Amino acid sequence: MADTRSWTWRAFAPMQFVYLLVSFLAVSNTAALEPEGGTSYNHTDDEPQRRTFSTSHAHKSLEVFTAHLPSRSAWSTRSRQLRSQAPAASGDHARQLAWRSIFKNVSDYYDRGIVLVVGADATAEFTSIQDAIDQVPEFNTKRVTIYVKSGIYEEKVIIPASKPYVTLQGEGRNRTIISWHDTAAAAGTLMSASVIVESDHFIARDISFKNTAHAPVPNITNMQAAAIRISGDKAFLLRCNFYSHQDTLYDHQGRHYYFRCFIQGSEDFVFGAARSLFQRCVLHSIAHGDGGALVAQGKNFPGSIRMPSGFSFLQCHIKGTGMPYLGRAWGQYSTVVYSRCQIDANIRPVGWYDWGLREREWTAYLGQFKCTGRGANSTGRVSWSRELTPEEARPFQSVQFVDGPW
Ligand SMILES: *[C@@H]1O[C@H](CO)[C@@H](O)[C@H](O)[C@H]1NC(C)=O
Ligand SMILES: *[C@@H]1O[C@H](CO)[C@@H](O)[C@H](O)[C@H]1NC(C)=O
Ligand SMILES: *[C@@H]1O[C@H](CO)[C@@H](O)[C@H](O)[C@H]1NC(C)=O
Ligand SMILES: *[C@@H]1O[C@H](CO)[C@@H](O)[C@H](O)[C@H]1NC(C)=O
Ligand SMILES: *[C@@H]1O[C@H](CO)[C@@H](O)[C@H](O)[C@H]1NC(C)=O
Repeated sequence: MADTRSWTWRAFAPMQFVYLLVSFLAVSNTAALEPEGGTSYNHTDDEPQRRTFSTSHAHKSLEVFTAHLPSRSAWSTRSRQLRSQAPAASGDHARQLAWRSIFKNVSDYYDRGIVLVVGADATAEFTSIQDAIDQVPEFNTKRVTIYVKSGIYEEKVIIPASKPYVTLQGEGRNRTIISWHDTAAAAGTLMSASVIVESDHFIARDISFKNTAHAPVPNITNMQAAAIRISGDKAFLLRCNFYSHQDTLYDHQGRHYYFRCFIQGSEDFVFGAARSLFQRCVLHSIAHGDGGALVAQGKNFPGSIRMPSGFSFLQCHIKGTGMPYLGRAWGQYSTVVYSRCQIDANIRPVGWYDWGLREREWTAYLGQFKCTGRGANSTGRVSWSRELTPEEARPFQSVQFVDGPW
């Protein structure tokens, strides 16, 4: 349980402070959300729901489209755009509404803008995702969709802050995989991620992110290896998978919404100081023995519960091996709430860890609300663990937690 990343935290405290100020200035919106329901996690439909976006149709259009594209060097002169059709109405309105609720204007989501195709075959313009990203104009104000065909892309991908409105669209999370293998020892925790997103308005869907670095071994430090880091604001991730061991999902800063994602790791595998809603996601622990920790939340400044950072896990499924903590108080005001989750993992009875700092027990906000499953049993929890009342839980129950809709 060594505090192997305290250096990272100190290095980023000034950035957190700036973010705090920005957050206080941000206008928060209110809007209706998914109807309240019980724990309605659906174990069987975690796989790509292709029908909601008609991928096969889109794919076909893309092939026709790309066949007539000018050469790569002429990209900047292209004016043609491919606009996708809104999906046909599906029977499952509740599910669709859940993720559509994040966009004020759903066209912002359905409109793919300019489409660049990455793949190995002749219809693709790029063989590397980074090559495609390098072609996105700086400070663009319109969406650019990087359509990544099925395949394993072994590369490190960086989307700089100057390139907002980028969508990474895969062909299914079992089919499109981005994989790299940097560790904190090689690159620092911040730069260890296989995919680094520093820009705002990022969208990813139907794609897997992996860091294949070796699992941490005893007495060797800095084996943290993130699969993705998201440092931009207003990121939306739909049906994405994240794989690593320690520090899989570096949810660094900004407001993020994850819907139906799958996150695998052994220790702190969701961590950072972002303000994020994880809805209908799966947290899969691969910790050994009696070890492990699901999340480490880094809120380090006071403020109301909604500001400026915290993790809300809503209707998620928590499963896997080891005996993980629900969370570790990485920040002085660490904020993590599990609501209506199905907790099947063998959670360490105490539930939470104060990072060895007693004073965090007074300021951290770590709790659960209406969770089910054996790991939800709150007998044996630390005295500072919270069982939220409906009133206390309300801010964590909708996209309003991340100031949605955007
Ligand atoms: C779960 O999802 C599957 C596949 O989409 C569907 O057939 C089934 O009816 C769903 N079950 C519930 C309880 O929503
Ligand atoms: C929604 O976005 C589309 C495309 O960006 C735009 O044409 C339309 O006017 C917007 N609608 C509203 C109500 O803002
Ligand atoms: C995707 O991969 C997972 C894990 O390997 C597997 O359980 C699942 O069935 C796969 N889904 C599809 C649609 O192939
Ligand atoms: C790790 O270090 C501790 C103390 O330094 C030592 O007791 C232990 O045997 C070491 N474990 C391994 C696997 O090297
Ligand atoms: C919760 O755990 C305690 C202690 O292990 C046990 O006595 C109790 O029966 C459990 N409660 C439920 C509802 O499983």
